[in-house]
Amino acid sequence: MTDTALPGTFVALEGGDGSGKSTQVRLLAEHLAGTGREVVVTREPGGTELGREVRALVLAAPGGPALDPRAEALLFAADRAQHVAQVVRPALARGAVVVTDRYVDSSLAYQGAGRALAVDEVERLSAWATAGLLPDLTVVLDVDPATAAARRGRDTSRAGEDRLEAESRAFHARVREQFLLLARRDPARYLVLDATAPADVVAARVRGRVAELLGAATGAGRA
Ligand code: TYD
Repeated sequence: MTDTALPGTFVALEGGDGSGKSTQVRLLAEHLAGTGREVVVTREPGGTELGREVRALVLAAPGGPALDPRAEALLFAADRAQHVAQVVRPALARGAVVVTDRYVDSSLAYQGAGRALAVDEVERLSAWATAGLLPDLTVVLDVDPATAAARRGRDTSRAGEDRLEAESRAFHARVREQFLLLARRDPARYLVLDATAPADVVAARVRGRVAELLGAATGAGRA
């Protein structure tokens, strides 16, 4: 459950690799900063010093030592636990808007559906790691895996593919379906957008929904 004792607002952006998520995180953060609010932009994995070490372990180039799916799930959960304790909860307690590039749903999609671990088990692991903290809004940037792979190929600023990006088209198709399933399960707390639309169009829709959320939070006077 969202922790209503925390006065801040928690927004997660999710989507496949190549969905344009990082651009949308940046555009949303720039917009929110312009409204005078405190905005904390962060990411998983790698939102803390420990997380950056975990990131290097889990996202090494393909071809290195095999990482067992359960070990992988635990490493992402460890990153998340540290991230929530050190960055997200303190910022929400101060009343900030926290915008995170990936959160719990990435584990459900990549380790659950992708690696074929039981999604409900991965969900319990993440719930434990976060002590139950869920976003007020999760934006899913939806793109089919073929388009996403082509986008990644065109992006010359990228180093080579990491272990997860290098997974099969079928893996990325399962990841996509899981994000969409999670959104269908709880539509009031999700916004699914076609990530192939122009970035400014996507950004305007994200801004609109976040504005509604911030208006509602203010109106309800969340303590
Ligand atoms: P991301 O930081 O979005 O990639 P990049 O900065 O290289 O564009 O995500 C890193 C990868 O980690 C991505 O392939 C998804 C994966 N991931 C998981 O498999 N499980 C998780 O719980 C998280 C947070 C990320």
